[in-house]
Amino acid sequence: MSDITLKINGTEVTVEAGTMVLDAARKAGAEIPTLCNLEGLEPFGACRLCVVEIVRGGRSRIVASCLYPVENGIDVLTESEKVVRYRRTILELLKARWPLIDKKLLEKYGVPADRMVPRDNFCIMCGICVRHCSERRKENVLGFVGRGIERQVVSYTVRAKKVCPECFDKELSCLRFCPTGVIVNDCATVCPASRDEEAFAKPVRVRDDDNAAAVKKSLGDA
Ligand code: SF4
Ligand code: SF4
Ligand code: FES
Repeated sequence: MSDITLKINGTEVTVEAGTMVLDAARKAGAEIPTLCNLEGLEPFGACRLCVVEIVRGGRSRIVASCLYPVENGIDVLTESEKVVRYRRTILELLKARWPLIDKKLLEKYGVPADRMVPRDNFCIMCGICVRHCSERRKENVLGFVGRGIERQVVSYTVRAKKVCPECFDKELSCLRFCPTGVIVNDCATVCPASRDEEAFAKPVRVRDDDNAAAVKKSLGDA
């Protein structure tokens, strides 16, 4: 495979073609927070916490570094003003569904403390459980249904009944990888968004109406 040369925060690095910007940046010593990116699972691009600014020929754009392959001649900025602003908003949105999120990250990016109502955890749609079950366990018990704010994770009953009892409390159970722990709490709740009669949702708490106004404001600030 050929090599690619790019700059990470002004320092030139050379990596193999096909390397993701996230890995190249970490190799160069940059610290980039991630949430949905888990070693051994295909990158998914759900949380956007890993955003970086890519500059080429005076033009710049924000991309998810875990999904963006390196290119010759690009400048990658991992903590530019734009990146920090994006991350702050993303963290505030995550915090609205996941009050137990890492406080150090909230502090580092200056996430305001008082705009969200403290709540229990919700599903943050990271997709770790879905990918874990299909990629590592090869079982496909979990999937996504719905679009936009109706999107949620569901568990397909027939398969779940067949294979989950053997897996649930074991080392390779999806329960161990859910960052918010919500998959345990909302197991086996009827899924309103699915037309499949055999489908029921595990984490249905994806809507946070109490914090809707604050979320809207965050999006406006982005
Ligand atoms: S407990 Fe069930 S849904 Fe979770 S990883 Fe195991 S087989 Fe998949
Ligand atoms: S249930 Fe947990 S692991 Fe699955 S998508 Fe929601 S937050 Fe992520
Ligand atoms: S870590 Fe890249 S989008 Fe989640």
